[in-house]
Amino acid sequence: MDGLNKSMFQIGSDTAFAVLSRSNELSQLGNEVINLGIGQPDFNTPQNIVEAGIKALKDGHHGYSASNGILELRESVCEYYSNQGINVDPGQVLITPGAKAIIFYTLLMFGQPDAEIIVPNPGFIAYKSMVDYTGAKIISLPHQMQNNFSFDAEELLSLITPKTRLIIFNSPGNPTGGVVRENEFKKLVKGLENYPNLYILSDEIYERIIFNNQKHISLLSYPEIKDQVILLNGWSKTYSMTGWRLGYGIYPKKIFSFAEKLAINCHSCVSNVSQYAGIEALRGSQLFVTNMVKEFEDRKNFLVEELNKIKNIECIDPGGAFYVFPKITKKGLSSKQISNDLLEKKFLATVPGSSFGTLGEGFIRLSYANKMHNLEKSILLIKDYLNEN
Ligand SMILES: Cc1ncc(COP(=O)(O)O)c(C=O)c1O
Repeated sequence: MDGLNKSMFQIGSDTAFAVLSRSNELSQLGNEVINLGIGQPDFNTPQNIVEAGIKALKDGHHGYSASNGILELRESVCEYYSNQGINVDPGQVLITPGAKAIIFYTLLMFGQPDAEIIVPNPGFIAYKSMVDYTGAKIISLPHQMQNNFSFDAEELLSLITPKTRLIIFNSPGNPTGGVVRENEFKKLVKGLENYPNLYILSDEIYERIIFNNQKHISLLSYPEIKDQVILLNGWSKTYSMTGWRLGYGIYPKKIFSFAEKLAINCHSCVSNVSQYAGIEALRGSQLFVTNMVKEFEDRKNFLVEELNKIKNIECIDPGGAFYVFPKITKKGLSSKQISNDLLEKKFLATVPGSSFGTLGEGFIRLSYANKMHNLEKSILLIKDYLNEN
């Protein structure tokens, strides 16, 4: 291993993909595995979107396109925001092969050994991996069950030091489904007035998957901090397009060119097929999204109710995304052991809470992007497992 950059030993991986690969192995051995591990909607991409991708190919869009994304797609992103009263210029939008690339590029822009980056704990695994890779220091922002997996603005403001370079937010959140309350955002925005040079990466990829008649509040809707917010969003979750690899970042104008240079040097541009499909997704009928969210809400209600009936499990009702994050105890076993047992003994794939940060210990993540009959079976499997000695 001599010769490798020492940062390579810092970068982590994504447990959900490791669980997926083990689930596939177990399935190939003939076991009936229920996968509540991976976070992707279990619906086909709507047909009108698929057709738009096929048409792009038939129309001859076979070459490279602009590195920041085709203009019509960036304009459709801006329209989406202007319909919510948020003004975005197409020159601020960077289209990427999946929204994860925005996390990668943004952390390359801000992470360095003497920097501090505030990261949700528990939080999406890629944040921590990438901060570690850059050598920056992770400052954990607790998102705890007793706080509905939201954060406390005063606590967050107290974590800021002269070394803080970036704050990462994710609402609705992965792995908890937690939604940050408007009041907390307001307090935060007020507090951030004292830090005009501090940037915030707001990961809003689950913004449309939100329940209980709540309304998502984008951090970009606060004019006071709009020149500090990098917004991450995409098509993967909203339109069930995880495999199309299409996402975007909206960067403040003054730093856009840096993100674009990283994109040019890395992915060059995104497949035209996905980009034309993305335009149709944003401009076409949104009925699919409404129906999908309704279906997710029914499944979430079912799981929360059933999980809470099980002794040794406590599960709060999450406000969004498609995960529940129950606290689960079994004779001193770690969440990793519990999750591993569920997969190896019951063929039920979940992700251990500890893989999302230290405060995830004691919890497991269940993705309910799976059919209701499988969720029903999962409840029985979890009960069986917890009843065994
Ligand atoms: C919180 C969060 N952000 C970003 C992403 C990346 O999404 P994409 O598939 O568009 O790269 C995911 C995907 O799981 C996610 O959960």
